[in-house]
Amino acid sequence: MKQIKSRQPAGDGSAYGRRKQHPDRLLTEVGPGTPMGELLRRYWQPVGVSSEVRDLPKKVRILGEDLILFRDRQGRAGLLYPRCMHRGTSLHYGKVEEQGIRCCYHGWLFDVEGNCLDMPCEPGGGRRRELARQPWYPVQERYGLVFAYMGPPAKRPVLPRYDNLEIVEEGYELWSYMGGLGGTGDFSMEVLPYSWLHMNDNVMDPWHVHVLHSTLTGPQFAAEFELIPKVKFFETENGICYSAVRDLEDNRIVDRVSSWILPNIMSVPDIQLKPGQSGMISWAVPVDDSHFTQAIAMKMPAGVQFEGLRLGGKTWGEMSEEEHQRTPGDYEAQAGQGPISLHSEEHMVSSDRGITMQRRMLKKQIKIMQQGGDPAGLIFDPDAAKVNVRSGNFFQDSAPSRRHA
Ligand code: FES
Ligand SMILES: [Fe+2]
Repeated sequence: MKQIKSRQPAGDGSAYGRRKQHPDRLLTEVGPGTPMGELLRRYWQPVGVSSEVRDLPKKVRILGEDLILFRDRQGRAGLLYPRCMHRGTSLHYGKVEEQGIRCCYHGWLFDVEGNCLDMPCEPGGGRRRELARQPWYPVQERYGLVFAYMGPPAKRPVLPRYDNLEIVEEGYELWSYMGGLGGTGDFSMEVLPYSWLHMNDNVMDPWHVHVLHSTLTGPQFAAEFELIPKVKFFETENGICYSAVRDLEDNRIVDRVSSWILPNIMSVPDIQLKPGQSGMISWAVPVDDSHFTQAIAMKMPAGVQFEGLRLGGKTWGEMSEEEHQRTPGDYEAQAGQGPISLHSEEHMVSSDRGITMQRRMLKKQIKIMQQGGDPAGLIFDPDAAKVNVRSGNFFQDSAPSRRHA
């Protein structure tokens, strides 16, 4: 990554003969055994929406691994390696039963922890079946999502509880979603065709809210985003926050605090500046190096269907290519960076400070993990599982004595 201040203009700036560029692979590669992939595996990751996990097995691809997600007839969710340990048929075609999932080919039955309970073609149902184990991952459900722990079993942390989602006020309910552009109200895409890091960078980038979502295209969110904020970034015990303070015309100021929580979690305050703590958490879950999916858990007024953002009255999928060009949003900006951005040709400047801090923090956690330590933000004590989410739109009087420092 180049710092722009040290870069000398070369020649006449011709594009001819430019050097081959590359992504920052330490951050973008997520498969098993890669440093970032191993770091992400230390934290619980969303793999599905609880209400969509039923008796029909579902293919899930996450962190470069293909898996099968299902719910047995006792109501337990299970996440198994798809190739049946007998002779490799996919459990995607398995039959879900009371005790687990039965492979369609010769009927081996596996419970949600991969234990083989039956080999119907073998004498006695398989006398040594207890020695057979289909590879599996532990799952837990919370906030309407199914979370998996895909890391080393001895290092399994507790599934965190986020204080902004723990209490759902009367008249509200949790909306849970996993897919592509759902946050924008478009449900046509299951997976986004670019690196999870593009989304991860986006959350600690308050300046794009001012340009992309406001002054360049007209207001996409609240009109107040047109005002240039005073921005501060700060490290927390488990990530980075920014505070973006705007002086409003009605003698008030609004401090918009946004959080990024290790390693791929974000809590963005309401984009229409609804006051108070943010009622949402989302995860940029890598599918593989060049695809990701977004999981969202968000408080919504009960009975109200999530509509999301419409530009010119249209959902993302209803817009023409010309409309996408004339009114680009997050998708265009992030997909426009390519399947995996070329970080070696970036020119990071002072307004990218939040992203620089995030990437540095991720690399530090990789080092800690490689040296045998526990990365920040992992919780091992079930009594300390509560995470304080600082995000929100906080308004106050702009009288000088009460102004935000
Ligand atoms: S391949 Fe699954 S039981 Fe034979
Ligand atoms: Fe954005």
